[in-house]
Amino acid sequence: MLKCADMENQRAIDPQLQQADPTLRAVRPRTLQEFVGQEGIKKRLSIYIQAAKQRGEPLDHVLLLSPPGLGKTTLAHIIAQELGVEIKVSSGPAIERPGDLAAILTRLSPGDVFFIDEIHRLRRQVEEVLYPAMEDYKLDIVLGEGPHARSIRLELAPFTLVGATTREGLLTSPLRDRFEVTFRLDFYRPEELAEIIRRAGGRLGIEVTPEGAEELAARARGTPRIALRLLRRARDVAQVEGRAEVDRELATKTLAMLGIDEEGLDALDRKILSVIIDRFEGGPVGLETLAAALGEDRDTISEVYEPYLIARGFIRRTPQGRQATEKAYRHLGRTPTRLL
Ligand SMILES: Nc1ncnc2c1ncn2[C@@H]1O[C@H](COP(=O)(O)OP(=O)(O)OP(=O)(O)O)[C@@H](O)[C@H]1O
Ligand SMILES: [Mg+2]
Repeated sequence: MLKCADMENQRAIDPQLQQADPTLRAVRPRTLQEFVGQEGIKKRLSIYIQAAKQRGEPLDHVLLLSPPGLGKTTLAHIIAQELGVEIKVSSGPAIERPGDLAAILTRLSPGDVFFIDEIHRLRRQVEEVLYPAMEDYKLDIVLGEGPHARSIRLELAPFTLVGATTREGLLTSPLRDRFEVTFRLDFYRPEELAEIIRRAGGRLGIEVTPEGAEELAARARGTPRIALRLLRRARDVAQVEGRAEVDRELATKTLAMLGIDEEGLDALDRKILSVIIDRFEGGPVGLETLAAALGEDRDTISEVYEPYLIARGFIRRTPQGRQATEKAYRHLGRTPTRLL
């Protein structure tokens, strides 16, 4: 239950999230067609969007899951764009009280998209107000206090909730169950990243040769955000050296300068592997212990670094902890004695 006075708080519509970095905004795809890769998701989404539009109903609630930088926020905006509706953006931690949520929900127009980023961080009381809103477009509000308090039920405009998180495991099951559609974005293939790089190059005003794009793409950890970051660094190098284009040589030079190896691993990736191998005899080692040994935040390791190391077969996750694979030993030039 929430109090009427709580509804004044507007901070929950996070201004930080509303305005992206201008260079990023310039390269952000706006339509499903411009969104590279994730073919299965795009196909399903375009059917659901078309069907909802034909019926004149809001799209079902959509949950987007993936490691960072794979396009969840981008897709949320594209969904609204393709539906031809407004998007309101907030995030789990920004919605402090049920009233903050009510303030947003009561301002939605029929069919609008409400995007909650980091939805795993919603507070429990806020989440409980969200359930009836998602299910029946209803909001229960308490007016007044003490013995005179009375509860009223507000009708909301039908809307689509799009939730995004990098931490599927931290979602409560009642929340997860209320999403009719769940998409898991995968790491991108190198050809797809190369295409993202070439398109972005055009918009950022830097020529990228096919080989240059291929070189950057191969080492971008399957992640568009990293591919675009590498492109911007290569553009810097090109500019300073007075070069007109990013070709393979310039790409390689940029990657070497950034300490990114041929597998796309950076210094911290390699440190993670070498700590598991050298300090913990290849593992298994628990996440907490590993984070302490590295002097790094455990969430950064498990959310940002590990998914790619696991996807590429450098680390195995076992019930006892993280274990280095033979591939990790070979990549660091060690002999996997213990494994043989
Ligand atoms: N499929 C794609 N095609 C083209 N560009 C993409 C694609 N996916 C992501 N990008 C670009 O990559 C960058 C990161 O994407 P986005 O911010 O949507 O990721 P995210 O999954 O929301 O990340 P986080 O979990 O950190 O919030 C953006 O600049 C976006 O424009
Ligand atoms: Mg995002």
